[in-house]
Amino acid sequence: MLEETVLIEFNRQIGKDTWLMGFRSADLASLAKPGQFLMIHLDRNTKDPLLRRPFSIHRIQDRNQLMILYKIVGKGTLLLSSLKEDDPISVVGPLGNGFTISGPHERPLLIAGGMGIAPLFFIAQALNKIQKHTIKMFLGFSTSQEVVLVDQLKGLNIDLSLTTEDGSLGIKGLVTDLLDEYLRQELNKKPVIYACGPTLMLKKVAQKAITSNLRCYVSLEGCMACGLGICQGCAVKAGNSKDKPYYYVCQDGPVFSSEMIDWRAI
Ligand SMILES: Cc1cc2nc3c(=O)[nH]c(=O)nc-3n(C[C@H](O)[C@H](O)[C@H](O)COP(=O)(O)OP(=O)(O)OC[C@H]3O[C@@H](n4cnc5c(N)ncnc54)[C@H](O)[C@@H]3O)c2cc1C
Ligand code: FES
Repeated sequence: MLEETVLIEFNRQIGKDTWLMGFRSADLASLAKPGQFLMIHLDRNTKDPLLRRPFSIHRIQDRNQLMILYKIVGKGTLLLSSLKEDDPISVVGPLGNGFTISGPHERPLLIAGGMGIAPLFFIAQALNKIQKHTIKMFLGFSTSQEVVLVDQLKGLNIDLSLTTEDGSLGIKGLVTDLLDEYLRQELNKKPVIYACGPTLMLKKVAQKAITSNLRCYVSLEGCMACGLGICQGCAVKAGNSKDKPYYYVCQDGPVFSSEMIDWRAI
């Protein structure tokens, strides 16, 4: 784990309240794995917000350029969006465990809800390098204005299906509807599922995977004050562990195999 001050290379809006930021760090890029995250302090001189904010590593390109994809939801992300090229930010990471990458002959199925696309893009990059089968992805947003990165994902050789809740782009409905349909028709393909998005979406995906006996990895978002296993703010109830009643999303996750979590408690 490193703490580094990096200079922003770009920070631009790419969708409704959605921004893409890039910066360079050879050290962070060499350590980072898909599914890991960074704790970012926006400005050392400000006490508001005081705490670092967690963001998934969205992508690495040109060997040492890292990107985060973020949505403005509050004070910290609004401040982040105001930063310009060459502004410094302090970054701690890479943190967390990251995804277990499936083998070249397995069939990955990526399921992203909203900003869940942020870490799944990075794993799509990694899978694209090794996969023999087409990578399937279900991507869901509330409305067309929020839809981002579709062309870049298709460039990674992904067979993409898109939903919006209001039907303004793609298929009308929830991204989990696509999973229901897929499992009805193609369960025999035994996909390995990678999912990230709102917690209730993950609960539905995980429970489906458990009852269908499929391997499934979910990347959880918890409230994170420290990101280092100290504050206990990110605890989730364990589903199958005899000696560990809770997991810390920041240390034991953020990626969990679906049966590790007690979904009834969520
Ligand atoms: C491991 C991890 C990875 C993440 N990766 C990304 C990412 O790649 N892109 C991205 O846009 N966001 C990501 N998040 C969420 C992001 O950290 C929060 O949106 C951010 O901290 C909000 O900061 P803020 O100061 O703008 O909002 P705050 O003022 O702190 O909160 C504003 C509102 O957002 C809600 N909120 C804050 N954090 C979360 C959260 N984690 N989940 C749900 N609601 C929340 C609050 O309850 C409040 O209602 C991630 C979170 C975790 C734990
Ligand atoms: S964020 Fe503090 S223990 Fe996980």
